[in-house]
Order: sequence, then C-alpha cells, then structure tokens
Amino acid sequence: MKREKYLVTSALPYANGHLHIGHVAGAYLPADIFVRFQKLLGNDVIYICGTDENGAPISIKAEAEGKTPREIVDHYHDSIVKSFQELEIDFDNFSGTARPEHTKISQKFFLNLLKAGYIIQKTTQQLYCEHDKRFLADRYIEGTCPYCGAEGARGDQCDACGKLIDAMKLIDPKCKICGNTPIVKETTNWYIELPKFEKPLREWLKTKIYWKENVLNFIMSWLNEGLIERSITRDLNWGIPVPLDDAEGKVLYVWFDAPIGYLSSTVEWAKDLGTPDRWKDYWLDPNTKLIHFLGKDNIPFHTIIWPSMLMEQDEEYVLPHDVPANEYLNIKGKQTSTSRNYAIWVRDFVKYFKPEFLRYYLAAIAPETKDSDFSWEDFQSKINNELANILGNLANRVFTFVNKYFDGVIEKPQKLSQLSENTLDEAHKLVNEVKECYENYRVRKAVKLIMDIARSGNKYFDETKPWFAVKTDKAAASETLYVCAKLLRIISIVFSPVLPKAMKKLRAMMNLTTPLAWNELNNPLQKTALGTIEPLFRKITDKEVKEQNDLLDKQSCFAPAFEHKPEIEYDDFTKIELRVVKVIAAETIPKAKKLLKLKIDCAGEIRQVIAGISQYYKPEDLIGKQVVLLMNLKPRKLMGLESQGMILAANSKDGIAVIVPEKDVPEGSEVL
Ligand code: MF3
Ligand code: ZN
Repeated sequence: MKREKYLVTSALPYANGHLHIGHVAGAYLPADIFVRFQKLLGNDVIYICGTDENGAPISIKAEAEGKTPREIVDHYHDSIVKSFQELEIDFDNFSGTARPEHTKISQKFFLNLLKAGYIIQKTTQQLYCEHDKRFLADRYIEGTCPYCGAEGARGDQCDACGKLIDAMKLIDPKCKICGNTPIVKETTNWYIELPKFEKPLREWLKTKIYWKENVLNFIMSWLNEGLIERSITRDLNWGIPVPLDDAEGKVLYVWFDAPIGYLSSTVEWAKDLGTPDRWKDYWLDPNTKLIHFLGKDNIPFHTIIWPSMLMEQDEEYVLPHDVPANEYLNIKGKQTSTSRNYAIWVRDFVKYFKPEFLRYYLAAIAPETKDSDFSWEDFQSKINNELANILGNLANRVFTFVNKYFDGVIEKPQKLSQLSENTLDEAHKLVNEVKECYENYRVRKAVKLIMDIARSGNKYFDETKPWFAVKTDKAAASETLYVCAKLLRIISIVFSPVLPKAMKKLRAMMNLTTPLAWNELNNPLQKTALGTIEPLFRKITDKEVKEQNDLLDKQSCFAPAFEHKPEIEYDDFTKIELRVVKVIAAETIPKAKKLLKLKIDCAGEIRQVIAGISQYYKPEDLIGKQVVLLMNLKPRKLMGLESQGMILAANSKDGIAVIVPEKDVPEGSEVL
C-alpha cells in the first residue's frame, strides 16, 4: 500500500486565554483523532500547531490585565500547552507566532506578495479614539454588525454571522477601551488585492467537491458576493513590523501572519529534529495533503485569503487539501462566552474527571454538521450508559470470567460456531465503516459504530451463556471468551485514536504487546494470558453532576447576582395597592435622625407617611413631587407617629432614591 503524506494543522489558539472545551471540540480533538488514525494506518503524518500571539487580541488583553503583551503570551502559551498535554492532544510541534523565525517568514510572505503586485498601499479614513489617542483596530472597537444586526460585533468580524467587517461600516461603533465614540482620521495601510485571486481561487476550488458542505456553502457565498481588497496592516504596537521603510508604527494584521504559523512551526519542527530542510518534504511536495482543522468562524481566512497568500510566493507551496470546519459547541443551550466566563475550562475539567471522559464525550457529540450541546447530565449519561455499561462491562465480565474459570488464559478454539463466525464478521464490517468515518472526519459516527461492536459483544456473551456452559461444555465457554477477546482487541485498536490511554490499559490487561497498528486487526489472536485486571471506567455520580452545574452557575456572569425570594402568583401581586401620590408637605422629626414626616395627597385623600429617608432628602426636595405609595399596608407607628402607607424607594449601597413616575400623571393612578 502506498504511504500517504499528511500535514495536519489545528487553528492556532490565541495566547490570550485558557483553553475551553469549545476549542477542543471544534479544532483540536477532531484533528488529533484524525492524526492518530493516520498513524495507525502507517501513513506519514505530522501534526502542527502553536499559539497565535500577535495583534489586537493580545495587546487588548495585556492592557486589560496591566501586563505586557509578552507576559500575556508566555502565560497563556504555557497554560494552553499544559491543557493539550493533559488531553493528550499530541502535536508533533507546538510553536508560537511571536518567535523570530515566524517574524522572518511572515515578512517574507508580505514582501513576496508586494513584489508580485498583489499588495497596494492606500490612505483611508479609519476610526480613531481621541481619548486614547490611537487608531482602533479590530477588537479595539465594537458595534452593531452591518450585515446581521447583532450587537457586540468586533471591528474585523462578527461572531454571530461570521462575516468579515470593515470597521468603518460598523453601526454605532464604540472604543473598547474607554467606551467613547471614535472619530475618523486618515491613515495609510497596505491591502491585499483579493479580486486578482478570484479566478485562480475558483479554478482551484473546482477540485474541492469533496469538501464539507458547510465549508463550500460559505466559500461560494463569499465568492459570489465579490472579493474586495482587504487591509493586511494595522496601526498597533504589538505585532510583526511591516518590513518597509515608510511603515513606522505599522504591523501586519494578525490574520495575515497567523496562518503562516503553520509553516513557521513546521520549520521549527524540522530544525529541532536536526534536519532543517525536512519541512520542505511536506510544504513543497505536491503529494502532501495539507489539512486545516478549525471552527467555522475561521473558514474565510483559510479558504480564500490564506490560499491566495500561498499562491504568489517564491516557492511552490502546497495548497490546503481539505478544511474540515466544525460548528460550535454550546453549553446547556447557550453559546460559550469567555467574557462572561460562561465556559468549561479544560484546566478545571481535569481537576474532577479523567481527560479521556472529555475526549469520549466530545467525540460522541462532535459539532460536525451543526452546533451541538454540552450538558453535565448528558455527559454523565454517555459516560455511564455507554462507556462504562457497554464497553467497560464487556471487558470486565469477560476478564473476570477468564480469571475465575480458566486461570486467566484465553485459548484459541479448534473451530468456531456459526454464531461466533457471524459475530466476528459483523465486527469486521463495522470496522470498515469506522475506517471510512475516520477518513471523512465523522468521529461522532465512528464512536457510535465502535460502541456497536461492544454492544454486539455483550449480546453474544448473553446468548452463549458461558456461566451455564462452563459447567457442561467448557470448550463452548472458552470459545465465547475467545471471541469476546477478539472483539476487545479490535476495539483496543480502532478506538485508540479517541481513547489512547484507556485502550492502552485495555491492551495491557490482555497482554497485547505488539505496537498498535490497524493491520494488526487481520492477525489471529494467539493464546493470551491476562495481565492485572481493573475496571476500565468509573461512573459519574448525580452528586458530581450537581456540583458541576453549581460551579458553572457560580463562575459565570449569567448567574443571578442575588438570592431571590420564592415565586409568587399574579394574584399575590394584585393584593398590593400602589398609587401615584403627591407630597404636599414634609418636615423633619426632632430626635428621629432618619425620619421625615410627609403629608401625602392622593386625589383629595390626605395621609400621613413616615419615611426613613431624611439622610438623603431634605423636606423641600420632596414637596410638590409625585411619588409611589403602597396604600394598603397596615398602618404602623414609628417614633409614636402613625404611618399610613409606605413610599417606594430604591435602596442601594450609595443611598436611597425615591421612585418617581417618569412623567407627571393624574394623582391616584395605579402602579402595576
Ligand atoms: N487564533 C485564531 C482564532 O482563535 C485562529 C488562527 S488560525 C490561523 O480564531 F490559521 F491563523 F493560525
Ligand atoms: Zn477610547
């Protein structure tokens, strides 16, 4: 079989925050599974990534935390690397785009495009904040999306509809630092002339009929709207300097240099191996399949801009072979929001659960064709009812039985019954389907099919009843165990891309020492002496689910800020009589520091009300004012004076504010 060559990447995560499970589900776990699968097949594959460390995403975070951009980059790079290690997302190289080699290569990309005539310089009006004395690039500005109307769209992209935005077109733009409305001011930037790439792009895309539908739809709507020149430089003090003499204070737009990170990280990888030219084996070999895994918001950059950049260089770089973009992972029906801390952070997850539980669950609900939803209840059900009860149970019942009745040894039978043959045939059919799923990034279905193999193992075990057979027909019982062991070996191989650690453990229990390889599936299973047996998976308790739900509520800003009173019926509310009344007289009460004595007129009905507001209102502030009175409160005595009702007022840490109607209304009007 010909060895295929793959260069697999995952979108570079910004080094401005920790890793959350949405990232993992979209760009990293699917890629890691694909890479592990290709390695299992024996193909030549490297998996390349790094952190995205330039531009506004970093500098804005640095300003917010009072740190230098460098400190931010280092801190989050380390945190992200640690999370990946914990999850066994296994890169061949994980670099960062603030490294010197990356700067050099990015500047070269810029100059090559400039020389080839695809970059022009333009002076335009840009948004400028007079308060902060700076141009507002990308995330420094927020407003309403001109395309979909969503609020909180950034100056370069709207998260709601995924469209790229020209900051000048934002509706009601506001400076993200100070909240002021910016002015427009002239500045010079460099633009990539995308229209010039339309023809070659369309030509190239013609061969991409096998791409995911969501990706193709996105690109086609982009192309059909017409490509425009895009600014690829910014007025910013953190990023890669524009390598020209007249470019003081200008850096490359982060989305220009970021994808170049795939290349510079590969160059770094080759150098670290002591074979500095080896990156060429991948990037310059037309047979390399370059595959970019990412979330859907990254599609335009990887399918339009990045390929254009690659087309006009001094080397013949490979273009992306595939861009399997995933949709979003929501949490309990709501979109992840890092600014509200509504996210499940990997570093928190691993404090409570094995990383493999996350791998399994995210693979089982992978947002491949539409958004999917994470909930702790569903997590518990998938781990307990599938992983533990189906696969864990199969391994456990088989191995326990072997230890109890066969001294821990599984023997190969002379001949297999029809049922045994059928069970194994069925499993091999499923294996072929699993392979196809892995090849086509359909992890979700692969997981289901593998579970079907385990399910069929349990069914076969139940049907052959070895616990009876062992008393009358020991050979039949032994055959059952052999077939089940074969199924478990199959699973230990085909499931290893998803659950590397657990499958290693499973194999150790079966004393399987040969290196993992897909073609091992065809080898006969020899006499097997079991190793030490232990449960493969534990279960998630209801208490843990509740704990996690509480944690999420507590950490996120969606959480209620207050303990609320018990719910009431509408009828309860209608028992309260609130009316607009007028204060016609007010006086202080000697010896009562906090109280004012008010005379209230409610359409001719006069009442006396004692209110605890004298620290905040002088009598003359209130006379003539309309306020709201709770009229049917049972009269009470305060300092010996009867109060016939209660004035509504807001009580805050800054003092008391009496509630007044927003405009004058007839006295006696009811308040609802
Ligand atoms: N940092 C970007 C994001 O999180 C992704 C960059 S992908 C790359 O959206 F291609 F530019 F590297
Ligand atoms: Zn400002």
